[in-house]
Amino acid sequence: MNIKKLIASKIKANFENVNLEDLIIESVSADKGDFSLPCFTLAKELKQNPVKIAETIAESIEIGDLIEKCEVMGGYLNFFLKKEELSKEILEKFSVSNFKSNEGEGKTICIDYGSPNLAKYLHIGHLKTLIIGESFARLFENFGYTVKRLNYIGDYGTPFGKIIGGMQEWGSMEDVEKRGNDALQEYYVKFNAKEAEDETYSQKARDIFKKIEDKDPEVYPIYEKVIEIGLKEAMKMFDILGLKFDDYRGEMYYNQFMPEIKKMLEDKNLLIDSQGAKIVDLQEYGLTPAVLFKTDGASLYTSRDICAVIDRHKEYNFDKMIYVTDVAQKLNFQQLFKIMELAGFDFYKDMEHIGYGRFSLPDGKIASRKGKQAVLEDLLKLAQDKATEIIKDRKFLIENPEDVAKKVARGALSFAVLKVEQIKDCVFDVDKAFSFEGETSPYMQYTYTRLESILRKYEKKDVKPDFSWVNNEAFELIKQVNGFGVTMKNALEKRDISIITKRVMELCKAFNKFYTTTKVLDGNDATTKAKIMLVKALRDTMKIGFEIICIDTMQEM
Ligand code: ARG
Repeated sequence: MNIKKLIASKIKANFENVNLEDLIIESVSADKGDFSLPCFTLAKELKQNPVKIAETIAESIEIGDLIEKCEVMGGYLNFFLKKEELSKEILEKFSVSNFKSNEGEGKTICIDYGSPNLAKYLHIGHLKTLIIGESFARLFENFGYTVKRLNYIGDYGTPFGKIIGGMQEWGSMEDVEKRGNDALQEYYVKFNAKEAEDETYSQKARDIFKKIEDKDPEVYPIYEKVIEIGLKEAMKMFDILGLKFDDYRGEMYYNQFMPEIKKMLEDKNLLIDSQGAKIVDLQEYGLTPAVLFKTDGASLYTSRDICAVIDRHKEYNFDKMIYVTDVAQKLNFQQLFKIMELAGFDFYKDMEHIGYGRFSLPDGKIASRKGKQAVLEDLLKLAQDKATEIIKDRKFLIENPEDVAKKVARGALSFAVLKVEQIKDCVFDVDKAFSFEGETSPYMQYTYTRLESILRKYEKKDVKPDFSWVNNEAFELIKQVNGFGVTMKNALEKRDISIITKRVMELCKAFNKFYTTTKVLDGNDATTKAKIMLVKALRDTMKIGFEIICIDTMQEM
């Protein structure tokens, strides 16, 4: 139900070209009514006093079935609604299907996220692409879109020459099979160290990589094995986070189309020579030149992305192609989109980049392995340990403590990423994140279990629900439940999941506030029934919210 629209329909005063509905806001506190109309914008436009305008509108309002009274306060007009009637109507009409829509029917959204470079450990920054990408995928699905989850693995380049070179020199396939990624990383690091002393090693790496590209029968099978191990390790992390992708084709796969793509770019006169390299000049568009081919003709990150997007468009006929990466890659994607436009691909308009800021831990929380950033696997383990610790005291109370601990761990990680706008940097404060107090995911998950527990205890009675008890706390909840669809739409349009996270947190807080003042199972069948309608609507609303922000719900914890 669109309450703002309903309120606006009761206002008889008419202002040309002004949609009053858009100006109405939710009141900040109960003494200021349920909704308010700030009259300052109107005042400016009409060059009148805001109080005067508020008074004029107040006089024109139809008091009755919806609005109980209205009050002018400063430049605001505050509306006090008929809580009992409105609550009854909202809760009786409540259905989760109100939050879904079919606006996306027949439309396909491709989301490229997660996409790790397999030559390196997944690091904690990958948590952001994984969770933000998944969350958008779920949000789009909620609105009826078909979503394709694409994991564009980084399986191309001289780093793989180094890994295999290192393996040939110091290791063995048995070692790789036994120690997985750890062995591969060791060779890589050792090779790099060697290269720093002896430059023939750079050429060695390039030569090996060339053999990989040429599918040399000696080297290529080793490369395939390396990729298989790297991907398997990455998939372990995806698994822990509960993520699955539809497509794992990466840079090497799409690189096969490079000759025809290069020719196409040449035919369109887009490639120019620059000291032997081939670049696209984008100066006219305020962008630095994009280097597409190195002096030796080798392809680069951007040229492979050109191949990938053309192929993906053929295959998925996407309505949108969204890339979720570190904001540091912003320029790269601006160049890519511009090149697609210049090359005459109309779908460049449907390509979009969602960039995110840093993710970090306070110093010393994770001992660093080689490399600059902490390794994702270590973070997942840390979260799991912390979650197990807080569940320990409750173990005898819950049926499946391991499962609960897993969900708590995952929830804390998702919350850390999604509680702030993705572009902002976030620091994961592990100690705070696993507390039941304050704005944390265990607090949210626990609140949810309270709703479930109330619903389990309720015994259905065949009576007419009585809403006469609806107080400010309850009405606040009902308003939020009612507005949740708009919240989700907003998050989708603004490309900001934190809008939903914040709203779910508010719902939790509002419920706990309500619950301290109101007994739900109060011994009166008729009022209990109405309260249960509220709890149920709240539970269903929260469940959708939790799902989108990648926090698991459970029956007890
Ligand atoms: N592998 C890249 C990285 O780890 C991200 C790839 C993003 N997707 C793409 N199509 N460029 O930074």
